[in-house]
Amino acid sequence: MEAHPLTILAIETSCDDTAAAVVCGNDVLSNVVSSQDVHNLYGGIVPELASREHVQGIGPIVRAALSDASRTMEQIDAIAVTYGPGLAGSLLVGAHMAKGLAIRYQKPVIPVHHIEAHLYSGYLEHPDLPYPSICLVVSGGHTSIFRIDSPTSYRILGSTRDDAAGEAFDKIAKLIGLGYPGGPHVDRLARAGNPLRFTFPRGLRDTHDDDFSFSGLKTSVRREVERLRLLDGTSLPIEDICASAQRAIVDILVAKTMAAADREGVRAVVIAGGVSANSELRSHMQAEADKRSMAFVAPRMDYCVDNAAMIGFVAALRVQRTMCTLENFPPTFTISPRALRADVTA
Ligand code: KG4
Ligand code: ZN
Repeated sequence: MEAHPLTILAIETSCDDTAAAVVCGNDVLSNVVSSQDVHNLYGGIVPELASREHVQGIGPIVRAALSDASRTMEQIDAIAVTYGPGLAGSLLVGAHMAKGLAIRYQKPVIPVHHIEAHLYSGYLEHPDLPYPSICLVVSGGHTSIFRIDSPTSYRILGSTRDDAAGEAFDKIAKLIGLGYPGGPHVDRLARAGNPLRFTFPRGLRDTHDDDFSFSGLKTSVRREVERLRLLDGTSLPIEDICASAQRAIVDILVAKTMAAADREGVRAVVIAGGVSANSELRSHMQAEADKRSMAFVAPRMDYCVDNAAMIGFVAALRVQRTMCTLENFPPTFTISPRALRADVTA
């Protein structure tokens, strides 16, 4: 007899987005995200401000997620929450909200790893996507290639040795006076620019591994901008800089991901994380996957950026794959309301 999927309230506050969702298996009943604009003033995330914004936003966001899904807390079976990685002060806000609700409504908590949630986000909309697959997780904090073998197993093949790709987008945008986060600005301006005007380095292009490096690119763009600023009477060719820098990032992301896909003999390629919203990355990946007759999935935009639907989905996958009931979850997978009570009264 097939078990009825659990209705899960998911909470995500690892960085600068306050998010909550209600998920039932693959069905996303609601997905609410509030992005914090306060950081735009500083050109990067200010951790203390992020946690303060989460404190203010988390209650209304959770209420909105429940109301959009037409569910009450009594109808929720379990609470999923991101336990890491992320900013400590931000993570704490989500964890405390989850713990508070768990105690008040006697629900179990399922802690979820943020990157694991990005990793499986392609399977949220496409549960029939074949295994094994290669997933490029590319965000403001991470750039890694994973091999996914099943809902229960995956392994990391390579990672950035310095900056993440999203960080490179953000730093380059800051250098040329664009707002934060820089990726969407660079993406938009690049459409009107010449990607061949400047040749920026493709880090670790010839190494036979799945690692990345973006620090050389950032330095090279900074030098070019300084050189151009010294030239009298010229304004910065911002579109061309964006197009050329974006091409360098996309080239290396696509080349390394596809080399891993070829070598591992996979049948599908997935991209996930905030940078997977990039239009050129999506189109170049699609073209390369088509050449190889491989399936390719770039999740829809609201599942690419940080969101709670992916957290709820991974929690649901865990429940399915471990065949647990809510009463006998292994302790590493959940914090029972009882354990929580001990935790808060200790
Ligand atoms: O996954 P995410 O929302 O947060 C984490 O870093 O965990 O990713 C945010 C990153 C930022 O660096 C942002 O500049 C980048 O994703 N990003 C983009 C685009 N949209 C967001 N980068 C390039 N092109 C985009 N369209
Ligand atoms: Zn993320």
